[in-house]
Amino acid sequence: MTLSINLKLPNGVEYDQPLGLFINGEFVKGVEGKTFDVINPSTEKVICSVHEATEKDVDIAVRAARTAFEGEWHKITPAERGRLLCKLADLFEENLLKMASIEALDNGKSVSMAKGDVSAAAACLRYYGGWADKIHGKVIDTEHGKFNYTKQEPIGVCGQIIPWNFPILMWAWKIAPAVATGNVVVIKTSELTPLSALVAAELIVKAGFPPGVINILSGFGKTAGAAISSHMDVDKVAFTGSTVTGRTIMKAAANSNLKKVTLELGGKSPNIVFDDADIDEAISWVNFGIFYNHGQCCCAGSRIYVQEGIYDTFVEKFKKRIKENVVGDPFENETFQGPQISQLQFDKIMEYIEHGKTQGAKVEIGGKRHGDVGYFIEPTIFSNVDDSMKIMQEEIFGPVASIAKFKTVGDAIALGNKTTFGLASAVHTKNLETALTVANSLKAGTVWVNTYNTLHTALPFGGFKESGIGRELGKAALANYTQLKTVSMNMNGAMF
Ligand code: NAI
Ligand code: MG
Repeated sequence: MTLSINLKLPNGVEYDQPLGLFINGEFVKGVEGKTFDVINPSTEKVICSVHEATEKDVDIAVRAARTAFEGEWHKITPAERGRLLCKLADLFEENLLKMASIEALDNGKSVSMAKGDVSAAAACLRYYGGWADKIHGKVIDTEHGKFNYTKQEPIGVCGQIIPWNFPILMWAWKIAPAVATGNVVVIKTSELTPLSALVAAELIVKAGFPPGVINILSGFGKTAGAAISSHMDVDKVAFTGSTVTGRTIMKAAANSNLKKVTLELGGKSPNIVFDDADIDEAISWVNFGIFYNHGQCCCAGSRIYVQEGIYDTFVEKFKKRIKENVVGDPFENETFQGPQISQLQFDKIMEYIEHGKTQGAKVEIGGKRHGDVGYFIEPTIFSNVDDSMKIMQEEIFGPVASIAKFKTVGDAIALGNKTTFGLASAVHTKNLETALTVANSLKAGTVWVNTYNTLHTALPFGGFKESGIGRELGKAALANYTQLKTVSMNMNGAMF
């Protein structure tokens, strides 16, 4: 199979899609010569096949990364690292429509939403580009005749494993802080969405990154992913995806070289609406909280708790509001919701919907497949959901909202915290005291007040409880990719 293919997209974008593994600055075939199909979730048809990385390719990529780390990359100044990241950000912006269209094709999100992802990815690259020459240690005085200082050193070869819900954005979240702090990277994309990262690989070459600094592999979790997390010469593994896989990766790290681990995992985030909230605005945020990206968000506001005074009105208005969520072709301008990512995810979500019905929750709207081609599901609202029900406890990762009623501030906090997850949460109210009491009491890495899903590169993001370890974004993410060295010098030669 060749290393690239010409693709013509429905919106007229035409380009050469790279298909190889990106190792040491060039596209290559996998050692075992394997390939796998990439599916368009809107049509269920094969877009193309890409070369597949197996354990041997991971090994080659890790060696390339190690060589770059000990060699050329080591000599590059922090300011130059920053310049390279900013250059890459510019190239992302120059290729905005192309990259967004590839995301629409491969992932199924609408081109307009995907443009947001590519812009946010560029902003992330530029933000960490800015940090590159502002990372430094301290001088710590202890006693006369001693000179002590600390340094923030890079960790080394970082393995990164990313999911399919935000393919290029997750790529940028992982690459940017790692490279800014002087690390090198072997990143594995999701087997469901490998295309946009391979186009980013071309931009890496164009930006002028030395070979081996960023290596990009298409491949499966159980083979390439497992090889990264258990590799003896990978110093750190960063993962975004399911909690189940996060556990597997942590075990692999523990059983190999005790590589550093950061995890950004699932959630079942509460979205709490009080009687005194602006009901129409709250509904807009609640809608965006659960149905954005077709419900495929780690921080999706999937547990909606509404105070009793407005509960019935809320449910009626919410039902009307979601009729405006246009479900359909990601290449149509007005589309808000595209298909789910795969047959497997489609089946899993439909099973949850059936479960909700069987357990006695009320389907207010939706609950069925949309159309008969592609993995489309109707936006679905369940009301009268009990918190013992599966649909209120487990991550559905689809366009399914579960609503329940509450009475007091105390009830809202108790219900909000009734989960093993702790990634995000939100409260909608006009009362400052209620907002602060709830915000300070929810056990979650992010609490939004009168908003939802408004992430920003400068704001740390990550999980309490089983939602993860470490923080992405903001200054906080630099800690994931640096290790502190203490140098303590005896200035007078005497022993005591
Ligand atoms: P997953 O967590 O298995 O896949 C995410 C990434 O991990 C992919 O790159 C995959 O190849 C890799 N991976 C899988 N098994 C691995 C292993 N043993 N070792 C190393 N890497 C491995 O998620 P999947 O199966 O695609 O989706 C299942 C569920 O996970 C979803 O329904 C959703 O609930 C959750 N999920 C959460 C995400 C988040 O952003 N927190 C993103 C994707 C899925
Ligand atoms: Mg795909």
